[in-house]
Amino acid sequence: MAILVTGGAGYIGSHTCVELLDNGYEVVVLDNLSNSSEKSLERVEALTGKKATFYKGDILDRDILNEIFKKESIDSCIHFAGLKAVGESVAKPWEYYNNNIAGTLTLVDVMRQNGCKNIIFSSSATVYGDPAEIPITEECPKGQCTNPYGWTKSMLEQILMDIHEADNEWNVILLRYFNPIGAHKSGTMGENPNGIPNNLMPYITQVAVGKLKELGVFGDDYDTPDGTGVRDYIHVVDLAIGHVKALKKIEDKAGLCIYNLGTGHGYSVLDIVKNFEAANDIKIPYSIKERRPGDIATCYCDPSKAKEELGWEAQYGIKEMCADSWRWQKNNPNGYED
Ligand code: NAD
Ligand code: UFG
Repeated sequence: MAILVTGGAGYIGSHTCVELLDNGYEVVVLDNLSNSSEKSLERVEALTGKKATFYKGDILDRDILNEIFKKESIDSCIHFAGLKAVGESVAKPWEYYNNNIAGTLTLVDVMRQNGCKNIIFSSSATVYGDPAEIPITEECPKGQCTNPYGWTKSMLEQILMDIHEADNEWNVILLRYFNPIGAHKSGTMGENPNGIPNNLMPYITQVAVGKLKELGVFGDDYDTPDGTGVRDYIHVVDLAIGHVKALKKIEDKAGLCIYNLGTGHGYSVLDIVKNFEAANDIKIPYSIKERRPGDIATCYCDPSKAKEELGWEAQYGIKEMCADSWRWQKNNPNGYED
């Protein structure tokens, strides 16, 4: 039995492929490479000694989905494929709703036509909006999203819940990721953003490698210990392992489950800068800028439900996240383009 990994060439997907192959799963990847490189899958193979079967194609394309289900014996789908740039989603809402929502509807339709009713979906802490409680448990009500990207996650959660409600043969696991950073410890795989990074850690590593001059810290007047935004950063390998645990849950007939995947610790922007500097012995110049529209002050989770029900808990701390992010960037200043 194989696992279909949509978006498997991307940042989280490629790290998940490593963990799946290392755990003996057969892996089939569908990715249109709109935000990734096939080279990530070569690195997966080099690390694991095993090959994921790769289909270059789109989740909106029924023909390729049907071809995959005809040729491969797919048991479950881990669905990473999606567009994820918050700012771009404000400028291109149609593209985001079409790719993420119509894409998922197409995928799920072809899955059910082929008798596959197991899905693990990449959701996000963004569905909590400005959270009603900290630390955030899964019981925390969903909130108002501030951009179309966030709404696609929130709406897709609802769609998948409704599909499970109507047909409880479906096993649906919604994984709400907090802030994934870090890279495989080999330094051969990592995050590969196009253009100037939007997210904090890739921005810092590009300052460290000399591609960008200084970090802009978006606001120092939040109601947090040092005034800068606080987030729950999680090592991408821990996140990847969370997906293997979720698959085990599906094998035990999960029904509908929702889990936060985070560490439960909040770090401010300046904490991250200091930890990065200490872990790697590199100075990161920064200056304080205006708040970024749509940002919230504090976001970290209570990850105890995933521990109790999946037996999953983050293993890596902030030092490893900083060291591993830097090893990847230093060895691959141009990502997979080198
Ligand atoms: P990524 O961009 O590296 O990976 C997504 C992959 O999906 C890319 O390889 C891209 O080429 C592919 N893709 C996009 N649209 C596609 C389509 N229509 N058909 C086929 N392939 C398509 O992003 P990531 O950081 O690895 O994120 C993976 C998932 O996790 C996304 O759904 C994202 O929204 C979600 N997520 C990410 C974060 C984060 O901070 N990285 C946080 C919460 C949730
Ligand atoms: N930040 C800066 N300077 C930068 C980039 C970020 O100060 O150049 C700050 C932000 O203001 C925020 C923190 O660093 O306080 C983290 O920002 P990121 O952009 O790295 O992450 P976000 O928490 O804003 O959002 C990320 C993803 C979302 C996802 C969310 C929760 O981009 O898609 O995590 O999972 F929804």
